[in-house]
Amino acid sequence: MKTNVRAAILSVVAVGCLTNICQGQRQVANPRVQMQEALPEKGAMLIGVDYYPEHWPRDRWETDARLMKEAGFNVVRLAEFSWINMEPEEGRFEFGWLDEAVTLLGRHGIRVILGTPTAVMPAWVARKYPETLRQQPDATRIVWGGRKHNCFTSGAYRLLSERITRAMAEHFASSPHVIGWQTDNEFGGGECHCDTCLAEFQDWLRRKYGTLDGLNRAWGNHFWGLTFTTWGEITFPDNRTGEMWAMGNPSACLDFKRFTSWLRVRFQADQVRILRAICPDDFVTHNFMGLFSDLDYYDLAEDLDFVTWDNYPIWFDEPDIPYSASLAADVMRGLKSKNFMIMEQTAGPCGWGSFGRNPWPGEIRKIAYQQLAHGSDGQIWFRWRTCTVGREQYWHGLLGHDGRPLRRYDEAAQTAREFRKLEDRLRGTTVVSDVAILYDYDNLWSLGFQPGYEGNSLQAAILRYYNALSRVGVNADLVNRQADLAKYKLVLAPDLNVMPDETARKLVSYVEKGGVLLADCRTGIKDCNNLCHERTLPGLLSPALGIRIEEYSALGSNVRYAVKGEAGLDGSYNAIRYTDWVVPEGAETLARYSEQWHMKPFAAVTRNRLGKGQGWYVGTVIEQESFYDALIAQLLKGADIRPVVDPPNGVETSIRQGQGKKLLFVMNHTDQPATVNVPEGKVELLSGGRTDRTLRLDRFGVAVIALEQ
Ligand code: GAL
Ligand code: ZN
Repeated sequence: MKTNVRAAILSVVAVGCLTNICQGQRQVANPRVQMQEALPEKGAMLIGVDYYPEHWPRDRWETDARLMKEAGFNVVRLAEFSWINMEPEEGRFEFGWLDEAVTLLGRHGIRVILGTPTAVMPAWVARKYPETLRQQPDATRIVWGGRKHNCFTSGAYRLLSERITRAMAEHFASSPHVIGWQTDNEFGGGECHCDTCLAEFQDWLRRKYGTLDGLNRAWGNHFWGLTFTTWGEITFPDNRTGEMWAMGNPSACLDFKRFTSWLRVRFQADQVRILRAICPDDFVTHNFMGLFSDLDYYDLAEDLDFVTWDNYPIWFDEPDIPYSASLAADVMRGLKSKNFMIMEQTAGPCGWGSFGRNPWPGEIRKIAYQQLAHGSDGQIWFRWRTCTVGREQYWHGLLGHDGRPLRRYDEAAQTAREFRKLEDRLRGTTVVSDVAILYDYDNLWSLGFQPGYEGNSLQAAILRYYNALSRVGVNADLVNRQADLAKYKLVLAPDLNVMPDETARKLVSYVEKGGVLLADCRTGIKDCNNLCHERTLPGLLSPALGIRIEEYSALGSNVRYAVKGEAGLDGSYNAIRYTDWVVPEGAETLARYSEQWHMKPFAAVTRNRLGKGQGWYVGTVIEQESFYDALIAQLLKGADIRPVVDPPNGVETSIRQGQGKKLLFVMNHTDQPATVNVPEGKVELLSGGRTDRTLRLDRFGVAVIALEQ
């Protein structure tokens, strides 16, 4: 039976390379596999491109497949926007063209990930079922003609989505070349304001709260007399005017976000159920968007075998140090606590109207290594060839409009060759970190509605610490508040504005047992309903932090308060944007306000001891990066974490380990050569040579050093 063949293919293609991802559930060995000369070698890592055969004449496909094979690619993602080509009219399916493409690619040893095509509805769907189109706040329906148009509660859309998913799954269940599925494309996007969405929102709230009293209490509806007296009175907590004051009640906003997130998770679950039933041996994933925060990615990831994500890190005219792409990778790895894969990776200049910088020689490769170093187990570039038609004519692929394999193609091919060479070393390795940073969507959303002080966001707060960790070469896991913290020596909880009591208690007990905890301004303000706690801040965290926050203040954009650090934080710094008026109650003061008379009684940074651990608090935002470097150095010291190398500015390091192996990745993000001090006498895997005490990296250069074999 075909499933046996498919299972065997998976065992070689997916399980081998994606050990962490697929967790070895497909170990079937099947001799028929050996007969398929085109198959990638055992354990081959998935490397390839997003390919749109439907955009090109049939007689070009062979050339494309050959060039892909010559580049060392073994996978493509296909069809995620091709609903109209697969179901040109309702209920009539045409898979001939796709069969042909899949078979042709298969002959060249290229496996296929198929996308369910529901991110773009065919015109006939909009015509026959206008209620499938999202309704805008002004009660008009969105006009068909782009993508991501659909309402997620429309019964018609859900049925049509299930039908095309089932038809695809049934059709390709027998294909030995299809190995996995991507649901939809980059879930997210606009909210729908139609009557079914409203009715579902009301039902969702009824299920959550049981009684209207419960809901009114949870949302604090006695404010402004907004108490509901029937479920039908509940409306969307909108921000129609764009004014903050006119935005709905923050508690209602938070539930509405949770609801819209849940709708997408449910929509995906309908597809996943079908795919698993019909193609039980295929993997199912989705292409996430890193730091995108419109929906709860932990929930979206739950039904999937592993996470993949779309990485476009070139935003500036000059090469920068894209730690945020590493942060995004760590967030992606944290969603399921396992390695992920890149489904779309920058291949050229990007843009819809105007486009940005072309990756300079070496950058395409370096971008791929950065993700590999943070736990990527597969690499797919977006896109194969730059399209000559449509809205993405300027979103460049590895090949240009002319279809010639030039520099960018060569660089991807070189990367593929090198990744192939590293495959055995990488198998079974992932990032293992002593540091956890708390990251969750309640906080991203809540701070989105009410940042508190100007410019505040969870990601901005995390980056202050994350960048400092990166500068010193220490990996971090990004985890949600349900995570087991016991395995971490250091936990950073900056800006954790929504903090239910159980989280606060967990953090206190973490410190008591010997952990080092850092909290900072706006941590622990609210409960799960987005209501402010009634306690004096930092509330239940007080025993861990040993402080009392009397009052607080936002600072205007030109205001700077002088801060003097001591005990390892020595130096003069500026407090900007915000200050907590912190009174130590057992904690020592490590930085204080030195000039503004009204701030002199208060601490800027404190350290407390509780049980065997430490609780640090930073009650402001400091302008200078050097402050965060000093702080992270002290925190690492307190937690007994020793960086392996001390990378110079612009050079990033990351370690993957497991199964007795330990690989140090060293990546030069600059276009100047760099010299790094590294452990001596180790094998550098790309060159095969042994390391000296110093390692020289070319511009955008990369090294992979086996610290343990
Ligand atoms: C991604 C999307 C792709 C393509 C790409 C470039 O976000 O998944 O389909 O649109 O951006 O625009
Ligand atoms: Zn709707």
